[in-house]
Amino acid sequence: MKIIAFNGSPRKGGNTEELLNAAIRGAASDSDKQDVRVFRLQDMDITGCLNCGECNETGICIVEDDFQEVADVIRKADRIIFASPVFFMGISAQAKALVDRCQSFWCEKFLLEREIPAGEAGRKGLVLMVGGMKSDKGINCAASQGVAFLRTVSVPESETLKYMGVDNMGDILKHPTAIKEAEEAGQRLAK
Ligand SMILES: Cc1cc2nc3c(=O)[nH]c(=O)nc-3n(C[C@H](O)[C@H](O)[C@H](O)COP(=O)(O)O)c2cc1C
Repeated sequence: MKIIAFNGSPRKGGNTEELLNAAIRGAASDSDKQDVRVFRLQDMDITGCLNCGECNETGICIVEDDFQEVADVIRKADRIIFASPVFFMGISAQAKALVDRCQSFWCEKFLLEREIPAGEAGRKGLVLMVGGMKSDKGINCAASQGVAFLRTVSVPESETLKYMGVDNMGDILKHPTAIKEAEEAGQRLAK
C-alpha cells in the first residue's frame, strides 16, 4: 500500500511532526510492506497557485517546481495523511501552497469530470491538526481546508484529529491521548 504524508509545519521536531510520526508508526505497524513517503513541505519548492487558468482544460499545472513530483505521487497514493499546525485560523503557508496548487486536480475532477482512479485498497485520508489556542474556531477552519484538499484529490473518506492548546515544542507529547490516538488512527487508515 502506498502511503504518503505531508508535513505542513516549518518547525523541525514540532508538534505536527510528532503527531504525524505517531500516525505513520500506526500505519506501518501491521505490515512491513507499506511504502511510506513523507514530504516535509518546508524543504520543498512549491510556490502558490498563479490562477493562470492553464489547468482549466487539461487538469495539469504548468508551473514547474516540486509540485510536479508531488502531483504524481498524489495520483498513485492509496492513503494520504495531511498534517499542519494552525497559523492564523488556517493551515500553514507551506501547506496552503500545496493545497492551492491542487486547483489542477480540482479542474480535472469538477470541470473535466475525471476522478483519480482508486486502486484495490481504495483511497482514504487522515487529517492531523494542532493549534496553540484553546478555542476550536481556527482549528475547525484549518481542518476544513485539509478535508477539502483530500476531496479535491479524490479521497472521499477521511478521519480528522484536532488538538487544541498545543503550542510549545513538545506539548503534543504531554497531551494525555494525542499520540496514542494518532497511532490508532494510522492503524485504521492502513486497513
Ligand atoms: C505564525 C503563527 C500563527 C499561529 N496562529 C495560530 C492560530 O490562529 N490558532 C492557533 O490555535 N494557534 C496558532 N499558532 C500556534 C501554533 O499552531 C502552535 O504553536 C503549534 O503547536 C505549532 O505546531 P508545530 O510545533 O508543528 O510548529 C500560530 C503559530 C504561529 C507561528
